[in-house]
Amino acid sequence: MANVIVIGAQWGDEGKGKITDLLSRSADVVVRYQGGVNAGHTIVVKGQTFKLHLIPSGILYSDTECIIGSGTVIDPKVLIAELDQLEELGISTENLYISETAHVTMPYHRLIDLASEERRGNHKIGTTGRGIGPTYADKSERTGIRILDLMDAEGLREQLEWTINYKNVILEKLYNLPPLNVQEVIEEYLGYAERLRRYVVDASLKIYDAIQRRRNILFEGAQGTLLDLDHGTYPFVTSSNPVAGGACVGTGLGPTAIDRAIGVAKAYTTRVGEGPFPTELDGEMGELLCAKGAEFGTTTGRKRRCGWFDAVIGRYAVRINGLDCLAITKLDVLDELDEIKVCVAYEINGERCEHFPTSSRRFQQCHPIYKTLPGWKVPTTNCRSWEELPKQAQDYLKYLAELMAVPIAIVSLGASRDQTIILEDPIHGPKRALLHADGTPASLLSA
Ligand code: GDP
Ligand code: IMO
Ligand code: MG
Repeated sequence: MANVIVIGAQWGDEGKGKITDLLSRSADVVVRYQGGVNAGHTIVVKGQTFKLHLIPSGILYSDTECIIGSGTVIDPKVLIAELDQLEELGISTENLYISETAHVTMPYHRLIDLASEERRGNHKIGTTGRGIGPTYADKSERTGIRILDLMDAEGLREQLEWTINYKNVILEKLYNLPPLNVQEVIEEYLGYAERLRRYVVDASLKIYDAIQRRRNILFEGAQGTLLDLDHGTYPFVTSSNPVAGGACVGTGLGPTAIDRAIGVAKAYTTRVGEGPFPTELDGEMGELLCAKGAEFGTTTGRKRRCGWFDAVIGRYAVRINGLDCLAITKLDVLDELDEIKVCVAYEINGERCEHFPTSSRRFQQCHPIYKTLPGWKVPTTNCRSWEELPKQAQDYLKYLAELMAVPIAIVSLGASRDQTIILEDPIHGPKRALLHADGTPASLLSA
């Protein structure tokens, strides 16, 4: 038995959906623990593409239980559309469960998200506009609506009459927007409640029960380490805790139940929205990575900013999440390049900096120090073993493992499930701390 967290080690869209789906074959339960419909996780199986926003990426396995945990924020309209889409494709949602203590995204959250971004002008965050920040803000402000509130029609009417009137003042007076019709919103959400009722459970209890029955649990992160509210590039972050530590709070589980943490990172870097990005490529090379990697957001369709792999943030992700191993995705996107750069450290005001600076202002001033490696210039999409990879690709991966002092357990060479090389057992492999007793990176790659 092993309980494993899968997190994004960069700014999101690392391929968590693909890796979670892949690992779900040996999981009994897959849990989302934070974020909302800002997430877009793509899974490709036998040519069919699934795009998930809230439903855990284990849903394609009929006997795997999928839980949307209490740390998430749920937009019921989007969730219902996702349920409909899966059912249309013949995927059962029988084994889906929703935490009764997750918070609900309301229409005023979406409106306030969009209006406040507009008001920020040059200082905008570049949010997904899905109401995520305002939903978490209400949670902290203790004015949020939870799934269990949604299930109690009488209580919901009372609570929403007060809350919507309060939010209408903000919409009208602060943003010059028309007010919401209180009764219409109440009726709309009561309708969602009826559709979702059968899925609602005490998720913490359900997960605890699974742990006691020695089931394998996979915790699926959304967003990425650098988008974490506490540890990311604040204020250009999301409003939840995507880091591995968020899995305990977002599920109601103690840290002693977690066995391993796996980081997912692209073989280069992307970012959507505003905020510093030291290795960003503005010119032709950025366009090439974007085109070859089809770097357009799953949720908003926005073009992702592209750049070289940044080992400084990689090391930071290893530290902040206590990563045991990495899954490197989209290696195939680099197939045609003559040479590939990797950021090994930063230069700030003439000084070398090996660590991620906590101040965004300082981070903005970081210039990447690159090491250039030769490209391999042959397709890798059909490689299915370490030996089949070209020598330069092996060297590139070895170098990344060495820079981050963490083994690479999985290499992904295409969107499909089968376009993957497993280098060591990501779920039952040895703990990194044990492997690194002498401080050197120990992995299959450096063996
Ligand atoms: P997530 O948010 O971390 O789940 O990632 P997204 O699904 O938003 O973005 C990753 C994109 O890359 C998706 O379109 C995947 O189908 C695709 N993808 C995943 N792994 C690979 C890979 O190894 N190679 C290529 N070319 N595409 C991949
Ligand atoms: P997945 O799970 C990439 C980014 C937004 C914006 C910032 C805040 O698919 O990796 P928000 O709407 O959360 O308030 O926006 O976070 N962002 C993501 N970027 N992948 C995601 O999710 C993201 N979710 C939010 O672009 O910069
Ligand atoms: Mg995504």
